[in-house]
Amino acid sequence: MIRRGFLKFLFITPLGRLISGVLSAGIFSGVIFLDVIRTDVRKRTGADVEKVLLPYPRLRGVVSVEEALANRRSVREFREEPLTLEELGQILWAAYGISETRYGLRTAPSAGAQYPLEVYVVVGEHGVKTGDGYLKPGVYHYDPHSHTLTLKKTGDFREALYQAALEQIWVLKAPVSLIFTAVYSRTVRVYGERGRVRYVPMDLGHAGQNVYLQATALGLGTVAVGAFYDDQVAEILDLPDGETPLYIMPIGRPIYQYRLTEAELIRYIEKSRR
Ligand SMILES: Cc1cc2nc3c(=O)[nH]c(=O)nc-3n(C[C@H](O)[C@H](O)[C@H](O)COP(=O)(O)O)c2cc1C
Repeated sequence: MIRRGFLKFLFITPLGRLISGVLSAGIFSGVIFLDVIRTDVRKRTGADVEKVLLPYPRLRGVVSVEEALANRRSVREFREEPLTLEELGQILWAAYGISETRYGLRTAPSAGAQYPLEVYVVVGEHGVKTGDGYLKPGVYHYDPHSHTLTLKKTGDFREALYQAALEQIWVLKAPVSLIFTAVYSRTVRVYGERGRVRYVPMDLGHAGQNVYLQATALGLGTVAVGAFYDDQVAEILDLPDGETPLYIMPIGRPIYQYRLTEAELIRYIEKSRR
């Protein structure tokens, strides 16, 4: 009862919206501050951390949002071709990158700006082309603020990921898979159980759709895979307690590019009106 009243106050009343905005902004700038400290420590201790500086995201493209929506399909057949580092960076930015520089707000909306999701990349052998070769195969973690990848483990983990994903062959064949995880506590500490069962899955849906649309706009394809053994994926990613894998999104160049024409859509709508 108290929680319902509190949520109503936070989201519906003008004063509540002001307070929740200020609170989440304050919490968020704290998070950014901690991130900066963590990076500094790594540098100071000279820890053996391998970072990939992703090319800066592009904010202009040639495909309209309508075209991306119309031509988005779940893609499960990929060519045996690498992604470029630019393409991978662009998709990561679309997934959960920074789109507001005062508080570090992201491309996907998030309840109370708590950003419970983390993004990992499983890169296969010859999976990502760089200027002078290929990215080392391995498991990487994405940092949206510095737009960098940190190498967590070296090796081609696609076979293990494919086994974890009930042998869905597109997980093995794609040059790269994005994996979304959630740290539920970030959202639950603000919204309680509602955060766990509603807000975190909603946050994931927004970020997942961003990946679908950006992949489509780049002429790439993906599929949201929710069927897998959590414990096996957690082991591949070396996840700490309290972090749960939610989506595997294999990404590659589609063998077949789906296209919807306006004429086809109009015929469908007309037929449905009869
Ligand atoms: C929550 C969720 C889980 C899904 N899990 C899988 C999966 O494990 N494997 C798969 O091949 N597709 C999976 N899909 C993709 C759906 O099968 C696909 O979105 C649906 O067939 C509609 O096709 P479309 O995406 O091309 O519109 C999942 C989609 C969602 C939203």
